[in-house]
Amino acid sequence: MILKVARLGHPVIRTPAYPIDPAKIATPEFQRLLDDMVETMREYSGVGLAAPQVHLSIQLAVLEVENHPRYPEMPSVPLTYLINPTVTVTDAAPLGEWEGCLSIPELRGRVPRFKQLRVTALGRHGEPLDFVADDFHARVIQHETDHLKGEVYLDRMPDMKSLSHLPEWQRYVIEPAARAARNKS
Ligand code: NI
Repeated sequence: MILKVARLGHPVIRTPAYPIDPAKIATPEFQRLLDDMVETMREYSGVGLAAPQVHLSIQLAVLEVENHPRYPEMPSVPLTYLINPTVTVTDAAPLGEWEGCLSIPELRGRVPRFKQLRVTALGRHGEPLDFVADDFHARVIQHETDHLKGEVYLDRMPDMKSLSHLPEWQRYVIEPAARAARNKS
């Protein structure tokens, strides 16, 4: 089932999420929610979706990057379920890249993110996860775990001047970069 996505301004987007009781993970209701979140993320071409974005203040996010139309050049990230994630920064070098958010439609902004993280969480069946994420993968996790704290990418922008509407971003950022790349080759 495709879930309704909460947009910026709905209080749930600004509410810190509660940890999930691990005993609930195996219940049919929770497993159905996981399926619905993946379906919703794919329907709206997101690379991640956090539970507050579907009106639930619980510490759950899903992510997946696979031949993504918005990020065709980005390395793929397998479908991952993060329940009660904790993140430790292991390389704080800031990397600037463009981000958008299903809860902040039609906008893109440049956001600095840490280069590398260690992530611990519970997975889809309550199994412990412990892995290191770099670069774009680390970016997606920082974006989604921010949602669990009631934060959005706009809060991470030191300078709002890059904030762009989607058609203007295509026209003045993406297309000139693609032209420059073509001319170089
Ligand atoms: Ni988002």
